[in-house]
Amino acid sequence: MASIGKSIETASDFLKKAQLVAIPTETVYGLAANALDSTAVAGVFEAKNRPVFDPLIVHTHSVLKAHDYVKSIPEPLLKLANAFWPGPLTLLLEKKALVPDLVTSGLDRVAIRVPNHALTLELLRSIDFPLAAPSANPFGYVSPTTPEHVNKQLGDKVAYILDGGPCEVGIESTIIGKEENEVCVYRLGGLAIEEIEKIVGKVNLKINSSSNPAAPGQLKSHYAPMKQLILGDVKENLKLYKNAAVIYFGEKNFESAHADYNLSPTKNLKEAAANLFSALRMMDESKADVILCELLPEEGLGRAINDRLKRASVK
Ligand code: TXA
Ligand code: MG
Repeated sequence: MASIGKSIETASDFLKKAQLVAIPTETVYGLAANALDSTAVAGVFEAKNRPVFDPLIVHTHSVLKAHDYVKSIPEPLLKLANAFWPGPLTLLLEKKALVPDLVTSGLDRVAIRVPNHALTLELLRSIDFPLAAPSANPFGYVSPTTPEHVNKQLGDKVAYILDGGPCEVGIESTIIGKEENEVCVYRLGGLAIEEIEKIVGKVNLKINSSSNPAAPGQLKSHYAPMKQLILGDVKENLKLYKNAAVIYFGEKNFESAHADYNLSPTKNLKEAAANLFSALRMMDESKADVILCELLPEEGLGRAINDRLKRASVK
């Protein structure tokens, strides 16, 4: 098991020695390494058992600093950066040569974001390199939203877990780029499309290219618990699966289940997003045979939640 604490100094010391540190962000915990050091970055792929065709997000502390790593930030994307950084937004931008090819899996664009978490922003300001950090989970499994989640699965692979408490947003960042003159969304996430469209107008949703190897977060099966997750009418499915765990939203419309978890008793989509990955983990650890769940309303963060549920239900 890794040591867990709130020391920026300990975290930065390990990172400077090319070791891995788990960092808190508002979305999910990241498994961080010096993004400018290919050897350190290789350690991230190894620890996660992640295929090297799956590029990493680079984290930095400000819009200004981001310019050190990218050739330019085109106008509509700069507007988004100014509006939402620090926050759950990742931008795909033309990389400068100092960003190693391993970070981008050989692509010309690097994914970059400024996370909204006080501890991690302080850490990023205290070091002179950015941090490459995918979600701190084994490849394909549910993302971690607490230090304990990280410790359980990758505890023996990280030097230190920087404890920033539970993640407030709870679902990964929204990934955005520009093609021709269009703003494109490649992954639904913690920043709702409605918010983005208020700033840049209509966007092109390019989120379903499941065979695109450049973005495995878009793979059909991802974010998946060990147990089978079955989507659809819970009441009906409980007749078929007697020993089931149920994840639900708002009112309870079924009698009893082996275990259950209410994502948000008041039907608040933000609260549901923050609880989603904990719910999946908790139900996965129960003694039930399967997990049952219904899709949430397809609006605001509900779209990102449904995206994760659909991918998590594919085996
Ligand atoms: O909220 C988040 O984004 C979290 C926290 C830790 O920042 N990170 C995260 O990283 O979710 P990860 O590696 O689990 O997901 C990153 C996604 C992957 O689907 C990857 O394929 C895509 O971003 N991605 C990264 N760099 C890319 C690039 N250069 N071009 C296209 N897609 C990219
Ligand atoms: Mg991930």
